[in-house]
Amino acid sequence: MSYNQQGITPHGGELINRIATPAQREEFLSKADFLPRVQLDERAVSDLQMIAIGAFSPLTGFMNQQDYNRVVTEMRLANGTVWSIPITLSVREEVAASLKEGSLVRLDNPDGKFIGVLQLTEKYSYDKQHEAINVYRTDDEKHPGVKVVYDQGAINLAGDVLLLQRTEHPYFPAYQIDPAASRKMFIEKGWRTIVGFQTRNPIHRAHEYIQKCALETVDGLFLHPLVGATKEDDIPADVRMRCYEILMEHYYPEDRVILAINPAAMRYAGPREAIFHALIRKNYGCTHFIVGRDHAGVGDYYGTYDAQYIFNEFKPEEIGITPMMFEHAFYCLRTEQMATTKTSPSKPNERVHLSGTKVREMLRRGELPPPEFSRPEVAAELAKAMRIAVTA
Ligand code: ADX
Repeated sequence: MSYNQQGITPHGGELINRIATPAQREEFLSKADFLPRVQLDERAVSDLQMIAIGAFSPLTGFMNQQDYNRVVTEMRLANGTVWSIPITLSVREEVAASLKEGSLVRLDNPDGKFIGVLQLTEKYSYDKQHEAINVYRTDDEKHPGVKVVYDQGAINLAGDVLLLQRTEHPYFPAYQIDPAASRKMFIEKGWRTIVGFQTRNPIHRAHEYIQKCALETVDGLFLHPLVGATKEDDIPADVRMRCYEILMEHYYPEDRVILAINPAAMRYAGPREAIFHALIRKNYGCTHFIVGRDHAGVGDYYGTYDAQYIFNEFKPEEIGITPMMFEHAFYCLRTEQMATTKTSPSKPNERVHLSGTKVREMLRRGELPPPEFSRPEVAAELAKAMRIAVTA
């Protein structure tokens, strides 16, 4: 692991900043009506922001064909740097045909607001099935990540981007802590080792257990729930954030944990996304990253620990952030505490664990998940959110 004055070295060596200066912004705004336009979907907006704030360092824009091909087949950028998920801007053929390579393209959000520019250097077609099989390990359209690839445009636009302005998050402004800011916070707190935690689900006791096990050996915990696009049946981000706030208030020491949002979109790419998630947290300044059971998985497309095994395919210094692996955690009725099979002699019938789907079913029936699974305050918050959703 390498360090500089700003803490752990960002992926690729330097923290990228692709936010327009006020002068650049003025210039782009003055040209706004004359530039060709591309409308971004929710995921592309999030990717643009992630690039701009340096969370996707070393990326400075949407991938060109050389980078794309090598990422899909070898999990590396063209220059050899590890990168596991294609970051592409896909548009329909008619849209691509109207754009000239070498031109400046105006990027609009889904409401038609001008939010960024792309210096278009390349347009290329790509093989969706090839991408699906390599990145998602399946070409099944029922896989939510594969479905996005199949539904998107046939041509990728490549080139550097600039975000016009970093605006406040509409729902969680207090938790919008970008990589430069989180790095600063870690230094101010005197934390040298920080463990990052990815999640897209309401917090349960197994999450809490593995976070706290990790925190026993490092200086700080960076709780970093993903609030970008998720699949429809995942619990909405505002509910999840409230659960985190509740837990921070009642169950965590105030000076050891920072809660911040990860504005990325979820890909559900299991093992490859675990690498991607780790690299993002390295850019935020984390030195360690938690990978538990079926990280970023969906359905039964991935083996329980595939997202851990994939780290063995790289030299530790190529990843540059240390993964902390955890086995499937549960509440052990025999020892009356959270545990895994590494630490508990229990038989399977002495272990309390529930899947996200089961919990959602229970809540829909008006039942609360048991205290062995979920802290009561969190269960109550989930039940409240479910009642509101049902009566809305
Ligand atoms: S994820 O898609 O963001 O990975 P989730 O929010 O459920 O989903 O998981 C967050 C992190 O906690 C991941 O690293 C995952 O592997 C881990 N995790 C979730 N549940 C358990 C569990 N029961 N035991 C061990 N690790 C778990």
